[in-house]
Amino acid sequence: MSGFDPKKVDAVVLVGGKGTRLRPLTLSMPKPMLPTAGLPFLTHLLSRIAATGIERVLLGTSYKAEVFEEEFGDGSKLGLQIEYVFESDPLGTGGGIANVAPRLRHDTVVVFNGDVLSGADLGSLLEFHHGHSADLTLHLVRVADPRAFGSVPTDENGRVTAFLEKTQDPPTDQINAGCYVFDRKIIDRIPRGRPVSVEREVFPALLSDGVKVCGYVDATYWRDMGTPEDFVRGSSDLVRGIAPSPALPGDRGEALVHDGASVAPGAVLIGGTVVGRGAEIGPGSRLDGAVIFDGARVDAGSVIERSIIGFGAHVGPRALIRDGVIGDGANIGARCELLRGARVWPGVELPDCGIRYSSDV
Ligand code: GTP
Repeated sequence: MSGFDPKKVDAVVLVGGKGTRLRPLTLSMPKPMLPTAGLPFLTHLLSRIAATGIERVLLGTSYKAEVFEEEFGDGSKLGLQIEYVFESDPLGTGGGIANVAPRLRHDTVVVFNGDVLSGADLGSLLEFHHGHSADLTLHLVRVADPRAFGSVPTDENGRVTAFLEKTQDPPTDQINAGCYVFDRKIIDRIPRGRPVSVEREVFPALLSDGVKVCGYVDATYWRDMGTPEDFVRGSSDLVRGIAPSPALPGDRGEALVHDGASVAPGAVLIGGTVVGRGAEIGPGSRLDGAVIFDGARVDAGSVIERSIIGFGAHVGPRALIRDGVIGDGANIGARCELLRGARVWPGVELPDCGIRYSSDV
């Protein structure tokens, strides 16, 4: 195998989406910047890119674009050269790729959705792409239940044979993992100046045009962080070391408590819980797979399971929040119960016992 020089690869990370499924958290911060195991989510991905030896990264921004540059600047802290390519009107995933074309310097371009947590070996992916002389290589991951995703079958030579929408009866457990290696010239075929979806429009068109599209298949850690359920799970997996990240230390534990946070005696923190900077956790509370953003407060005796508590939000005593999202600065009164996907918008005040799913107050 000839190998490749990662310095001759441009990385493109798409971070311009509005992240509607993660509202209300994404009202104040773009999804790839949400704190995940104590770091902006994107830091985990950028560290992976840097660890592969790739140096040049173009961030395709749109929604809340300025936040990215404030955090990452020129990229030197991560050992990268980061440039920003802004879309005033979001162009979709395909349009976002086409929009960076004038700024590309290399013939090999690896594109990432900016909200995927993955353990794929990027060096192997690039070697596969070159070894197969592909025009486009998709990272495909095997998942236990492919029905919720588009499935992408390949033939015995690794060539993609179809792009199938979600179906109850997928012919393969290989799904599109949101990471692609393009030969530079293929990017020029993406329609310009209008929104384009890479998954729904560009890939099927390339396939029917006879472009050599290959699939690099693995079964490493993979999670699209697009929903609260996945965000909570991915964060917990990062904390516990189940999800890999070169940005975090090798040995990780059951919970992560950040500087300036206070955890009262008798509070139980398990399941990959994260407590953000300056957050306060009261005595006798139980946090299982909880994501507590900076400055939030959880009072005595509360139970938080698989839920996100936004910046500066407050959960009163003996509340129960399970599979919920509490927006920044919201105030949840004592003994409230919020279950099964409940979302509280920023700044909302719920009085004591204001919402319950049971009668035993
Ligand atoms: P939802 O609104 O919840 O679907 O989230 P999203 O807007 O992030 O869309 P999706 O999860 O499908 O996007 C996958 C990745 O592509 C994310 O990292 C997005 O930030 C990014 N993305 C989505 N749309 C655009 C766009 O129009 N332009 C750019 N540059 N990136 C985009």
